Amino acid sequence: MNLLYKKIWNLARPYYIKGRPMDVEHIEWMMEKVEEMCKHEEIDESILMPLAILHDVGYSELSDPITVNYYNKDVRRAHMDLGAKIAEKILKTVDYSKNKSKKIINYIKIHDNWAFGEVDIYINDKILGSFKDLDYLWIYTKIGCKAIQKILKKNNLEMLDHLRNEITPIYGKKPFSTEFTKKLRETYLKDREKDLL
Ligand SMILES: [Fe+2]
Ligand SMILES: [Fe+2]
Repeated sequence: MNLLYKKIWNLARPYYIKGRPMDVEHIEWMMEKVEEMCKHEEIDESILMPLAILHDVGYSELSDPITVNYYNKDVRRAHMDLGAKIAEKILKTVDYSKNKSKKIINYIKIHDNWAFGEVDIYINDKILGSFKDLDYLWIYTKIGCKAIQKILKKNNLEMLDHLRNEITPIYGKKPFSTEFTKKLRETYLKDREKDLL
């Protein structure tokens, strides 16, 4: 991976260690998939990679990231606003392009806005759309699935049902922004069927 991305990750990692359980794994998985996706799709990695690395740093600043309810709307809003401030500091420290930093910070501020009914921003913007696809697909990974299964208190069959029926936040108009993420969901779902059945 590009040295600059590694530097950003090294600065962001301590925040994630203080953040939600599994956040380090969540981001490491996102980084791996962004790298893979950018080989298959025409997406500007210099925006998407820092966005993936930095998008959830804000959870570390919440009073109790372990017990906080991530589905609460105020929490969602707060982690985006706090995260944007931390991201700004980190991007400045590594001397990231000013223009690109501005874009990345703006994306962080709105990355979960589907929860507030804003769907078109993901459909009209491939960077934000593909980011959202990956963020949503995390619960289909082995580690992500286990973590969410615990939070939702579901047994194996209920969890599998949840995954089968889970719709992407932008479902209905354009559920996936890329072929890559669409296929990834199919592959992961088959893997989870093996684990959970
Ligand atoms: Fe988030
Ligand atoms: Fe995330």
